[in-house]
Amino acid sequence: MSEAEVQEKKLNEDTELRIVVNEGEAIVELVDGRAEIFGSELVKNKKYLFQKGSRIAIFTYEGATVDVVGSGVHSYTSDETPMVIYLNTHAALEQIRKVAECDPSHRGPRIMLVGPTDVGKSTVCRILCNYSVRMGRSPILVDLDVGQGEISVPGTMGAIFINKMADIMEGFDCSRPLVFNFGATTPSENLPLYDLLVKELAEVINQRCAVNRDSNIGGIIINTCGWVHGDGYQCLVSAAEAFEVESVVVIDHERLYNDLKRDLPSFVKILHQPKSGGTETRSKEMRAAMRSERIHRYFYGTASSRLNPYTFEVNFSDVLLAKIGAEQLPESCLPFGAKIDDHNTKVVGVKPSSSLIHCLLAISPSTSISQNVLKETVLGFVVVNQVNDEAQTLTILSPQQELPSKVLIVTSIKFVDDRTIE
Ligand SMILES: Nc1ncnc2c1ncn2[C@@H]1O[C@H](COP(=O)(O)OP(=O)(O)O)[C@@H](O)[C@H]1O
Ligand SMILES: [Mg+2]
Repeated sequence: MSEAEVQEKKLNEDTELRIVVNEGEAIVELVDGRAEIFGSELVKNKKYLFQKGSRIAIFTYEGATVDVVGSGVHSYTSDETPMVIYLNTHAALEQIRKVAECDPSHRGPRIMLVGPTDVGKSTVCRILCNYSVRMGRSPILVDLDVGQGEISVPGTMGAIFINKMADIMEGFDCSRPLVFNFGATTPSENLPLYDLLVKELAEVINQRCAVNRDSNIGGIIINTCGWVHGDGYQCLVSAAEAFEVESVVVIDHERLYNDLKRDLPSFVKILHQPKSGGTETRSKEMRAAMRSERIHRYFYGTASSRLNPYTFEVNFSDVLLAKIGAEQLPESCLPFGAKIDDHNTKVVGVKPSSSLIHCLLAISPSTSISQNVLKETVLGFVVVNQVNDEAQTLTILSPQQELPSKVLIVTSIKFVDDRTIE
């Protein structure tokens, strides 16, 4: 790092410097003008550090000079960016907020971002949230992407109430999120459960908007999964209905745009927008690595704000384990009135066993195993580092010194904790 030279980059108006950190780290500093990274303004003469694997764009509306340091850094300037289109989307949302501000019978915007994987959906959500915070608004960011969501660990959907810009390096403050546990990284693992949780989340958000005027005016910005075909498409349509969105931005997928125009009610404005040339296509392996990294971050924090998780033993008898989804019974065996799908959303007890090793468990606020477990927001997550059948204990990795509840929900997500590798 020390031998790396400072590269001074002069950026013209409406251009962006795209940076990929292939090795080591990159240090970025705004030395003149004004610039932003995904909607968060850079502070002049402040050094920002980006780790290996980071992929960012420093955009300027007015022109700027930026210093970049890092020997394993690839960067280039582009004047073809969709930022002005995204700014126009923001302006349209702001119009809706102004109406809501003057007339309490109106509400703020509800916009959903859809498109295949790696087209910049999460990034555009971040930009739109940041721009609205910069106007003094308090939007709600909803993340329905159970694979690459940014609010909590993979396998969840949730929301955060935003009132400050995303930190350039750390992202939005997710310290008090609203999180539902889905327990798998793709909706296809349990479509009825996915649909049910989307509706539940929409209901909770509606309640918030009914009592919090700032949230109601700020509106809802919804990120979605990149699964846009077949059942994945149906999930998007259901989500648009559940959140009663009035606009949908389709990034980079004409067929999806046409299908949604056909299938969503005519009052829903559907916009087709290009993806940025800076977005990166990620392989399946990269995606899995990012999920693992997300869980690591949940327990251990980041380089600039480290967390110290705890490991401790709990007796089998001190926890109540549950999973969502039971074996499917033949229709003839179902109780009267039960639907064939019900088994997918059934909460059933699980006996502790060695199969729990490396499992991510969601902590339910419930005191017993019942159907209530399903619809409650979770308190957090732990990982099973070891199972000792003889001693009848589990060794748990946890952000807290003790479990806040004894009801734990088994997910299909695994995480191998560094501490289990000697
Ligand atoms: N304009 C851009 N320049 C460089 N990288 C970008 C740009 N926009 C997005 N990215 C990067 O591309 C990757 C994919 O974007 P993301 O928003 O995660 O896509 P999606 O949510 O659709 O999968 C991310 O690493 C993001 O940081
Ligand atoms: Mg995303």
